[in-house]
Amino acid sequence: MEGYRLNRFLSQKEIASIVRRLADQISNDYSGRELVLVCILKGAFMFLSDLIRRLKIPAKVDFVRLASYGAGMETSGIIEITKDIEIPIEGKDVLIIEDIIDSGRTLQFLKDRLSLANPRSVKICALLDKKARREVEMEADYLGIEVDNVFIVGYGIDFDENYRHLPEIYYVTPNEQSSS
Ligand code: IMP
Ligand code: MG
Repeated sequence: MEGYRLNRFLSQKEIASIVRRLADQISNDYSGRELVLVCILKGAFMFLSDLIRRLKIPAKVDFVRLASYGAGMETSGIIEITKDIEIPIEGKDVLIIEDIIDSGRTLQFLKDRLSLANPRSVKICALLDKKARREVEMEADYLGIEVDNVFIVGYGIDFDENYRHLPEIYYVTPNEQSSS
């Protein structure tokens, strides 16, 4: 994409080590439980697929797709489910798998929504967290790493549907040379 530059934030090795740590924590905490991972499409698909392979306990998987009005780099407050979960979660331990926490509104909406089905618990595992951008109270129970207020792409995370395929994580900055 012209006018932008990708700066590497996390290498494949660094991502793998974060994922391994999270998988170990989750495996310990949910041992003997009925764990359902609910992955938020599309951004968290790669994170989910790496994480689940590192778990040492069985887990079921389901997906939600959320639409948030507004385009580009900003999330609006209005969120809607365009693809709901399909497996029953009543009495189960649900762990939401998310790529990035930004304002916190997406997770607040989804957590409230899933809680209506009376799961035993609903917790959050997020790869990245932009804490400085928070608009509502929201903390990940399992967090990969904090990031500054920068725009992130790669490892499933997109900028207008581009860059999801990249195996590393980058932050986007304006390219001064091509911006004149
Ligand atoms: P929130 O509802 O404001 O917390 O927004 C979270 C969602 O915004 C994430 O699921 C991402 O899809 C998207 N998002 C937030 N920051 C970034 C970013 O830096 N790059 C790509 N998507 C982002
Ligand atoms: Mg997302």
